[in-house]
Amino acid sequence: MLTTLAPAKINLFLEVLGKRGDGFHDLESVFLAVDLVDRLSAIPAPAGDTTLACSDPKVPIDGNNLIIKAANLLTRHRRINQGISFTLDKNIPMGGGLGGGSSNAAAALRLADTMWHSGLDSEEMLGLAGELGSDVPFFLTGGMCLVRGRGETVEPLSSFPETVPLGLAVSSIHCDTAAAFRGVRLPGEGERRRADAFLAAIRSADAAAMADAAFNRFEETVFDAFPVLDAMRRRLAEAAGIEARLSGSGSTLWFFGDADAAARRLAKDDEWQRLARGHGAAIRAVRPFVDTGIREMKG
Ligand code: C5P
Repeated sequence: MLTTLAPAKINLFLEVLGKRGDGFHDLESVFLAVDLVDRLSAIPAPAGDTTLACSDPKVPIDGNNLIIKAANLLTRHRRINQGISFTLDKNIPMGGGLGGGSSNAAAALRLADTMWHSGLDSEEMLGLAGELGSDVPFFLTGGMCLVRGRGETVEPLSSFPETVPLGLAVSSIHCDTAAAFRGVRLPGEGERRRADAFLAAIRSADAAAMADAAFNRFEETVFDAFPVLDAMRRRLAEAAGIEARLSGSGSTLWFFGDADAAARRLAKDDEWQRLARGHGAAIRAVRPFVDTGIREMKG
């Protein structure tokens, strides 16, 4: 059995530069893989018998799942006459802007490529990843990257400063990415934000400067579309003194700060408790994800 970890991502910076001829949008974004992870395992299966089992019954396990799509895409691309049987241990919330499905797809490509010895070079792998989804190419590299274009241009950055703590506010609120892109307000030319200031702040490892330069264009529209997310953001600020940002098109909020201290303060806040009960809102500390590659396990 082969097994690998598929991490979540957060967007520390995200500008939507404009709409492209192909209907997608050009982005400038800083992605960071964090240690909220799914585990994907695989064993060989007969040709035509590619399957997925999942610990979470809410996850579709048919051909709509990007894991199955990834294996089928590689099968067609390399005319492979073998199947693969996947098992997914799911922890990353869905519809949360954490890239869980895309990360699973990248992990499935890597596992299938290893199992079938298909020997894809990195450019072919990137091409297949981009066909599966805009965020999938990032997960082939992981770590912290500057991501451009539709998501296909992935430039690794130096690592995230170890001294800066990170937290997430996850919830069961489901934000639809395509709808968020349809609703986003495209910035005028002079108004577009660039990642440079954020990248400089990261290099200086200055948490206050990083918080100042962090940005997400979706916030102006997604907080209006989801008042409950706006309420979460406000409780984080007012009850815990934390300035949280949206990840991707939401619903997850992230922040530079001590998540345990924030959770203790929010536990005493009635309005936060109401959000936690009604929308599964929860605070957790995360750290940058360190890739452990693909492991071969017995059984
Ligand atoms: O590529 P992916 O399937 O993840 O994208 C989901 C939807 O988000 C697309 O159908 C598209 O509407 C939108 N999108 C976009 N520009 C991007 C990424 C996604 O418009 N760079």
